[in-house]
Amino acid sequence: MRHKFSWVNNQRTKKHSSMALEAWYMEENEEDKRLPHHKNPKEFVSLNKLAEIGILYWHLNPKNYENDEELNKIRETRGYNYMDLLDLCPEKIENYEEKLRNFYTEHIHADEEIRYCLEGSGYFDVRDKDDRWIRIWIKGGDMIILPAGIYHRFTLDTSNYVKLMRLFKGEPVWTAYNRPQEAHPARQEYIKNVVENSGIALEAH
Ligand code: LAC
Ligand code: NI
Repeated sequence: MRHKFSWVNNQRTKKHSSMALEAWYMEENEEDKRLPHHKNPKEFVSLNKLAEIGILYWHLNPKNYENDEELNKIRETRGYNYMDLLDLCPEKIENYEEKLRNFYTEHIHADEEIRYCLEGSGYFDVRDKDDRWIRIWIKGGDMIILPAGIYHRFTLDTSNYVKLMRLFKGEPVWTAYNRPQEAHPARQEYIKNVVENSGIALEAH
């Protein structure tokens, strides 16, 4: 119930999604993962559709991240007391190639994955209800929350650089559980929430 409420509630009260986030269904082929992988014709996915699978989005001013009232409010409301910055470039990251490989291996977490893009860009791929890949393109100012238990992965795009703020409730746990994870409690809770949430969406029409 807690999750269901917050998904719906956030969708209603969100004010700063006017800078639309681009997301689309992915063409799965052997091309470089850093390319867009659009279908032909392109098939875009709306924020509402992302909200149905539990993904929340804000657009903030990335230049102002050290002193941003709106960011502080989100952190306070959602209890994100932990914060760090991740600069994804070979010079700043140990085991860069291995990390990127792990990020792109389909997985879940026991907690939300909260990422705020400060510079550069990249792709978060998430599975929809029918297990199709949706590619979410995040750029400077985009903040997304992936719910616990959603199958996802991350890759840089052809710009080859991203600077991300990571937020977390309490002591951070970055453990990734690679698919399949159908018996994982976070996965089961997620499935339950998605099913209940689509019930609400249907009633509203
Ligand atoms: C991850 C990186 C992108 O956790 O922060 O997938
Ligand atoms: Ni992850």
